[in-house]
Amino acid sequence: MFHIIYVSTAVEPMSKRDLMELLHTSRVNNKSNRVTGMLLYKNDFFIQVIEGDETRVTELMATIKNDTRHKNIDILREEYIQSREFPDWTMGFQNLDAADYLKIPGFTKILENNFKPEYFTEHATEAHALLLAFKRNTKSNDSHKNYQSPENNTDQSPE
Ligand SMILES: Cc1cc2nc3c(=O)[nH]c(=O)nc-3n(C[C@H](O)[C@H](O)[C@H](O)COP(=O)(O)O)c2cc1C
Repeated sequence: MFHIIYVSTAVEPMSKRDLMELLHTSRVNNKSNRVTGMLLYKNDFFIQVIEGDETRVTELMATIKNDTRHKNIDILREEYIQSREFPDWTMGFQNLDAADYLKIPGFTKILENNFKPEYFTEHATEAHALLLAFKRNTKSNDSHKNYQSPENNTDQSPE
């Protein structure tokens, strides 16, 4: 099992609809490639972890790098892992610009003050921890279980 964690900057601010379209495509592709992970978006920045078979993950990263919707792609981690950390998420997602985003104890400062690519470039461990923290609070979107179409699934509800 292999994962890549990166940060990037949106070329233009992503609307909710843009994000939902991106997620829909990602989930369909990731499901067939057995790729899983988590994507966070805030202040025009993305943090994403993708995990799966090394070849698939590396190929997907090459595709993502060529995507003109974002720039300044900076890979923070690229390594083997024991097992999947996001087995039930073909791509979990949190839009942290949404007013009702989850407040996660211990991460308030990072989310409010430090959500910048430069910060995560210096603190890759915190980027990883943040992605994992959202796992506990983000609905599984494994399509075997409870796939909902992106139109009515914003993945924001804390539950
Ligand atoms: C921040 C970001 C994250 C992305 N994550 C994924 C992903 O996890 N899986 C995926 O297939 N495409 C992802 N994409 C989209 C790819 O760059 C590409 O547009 C897509 O895979 C093309 O799919 P298609 O050939 O089915 O249209 C992402 C794009 C961006 C900007």
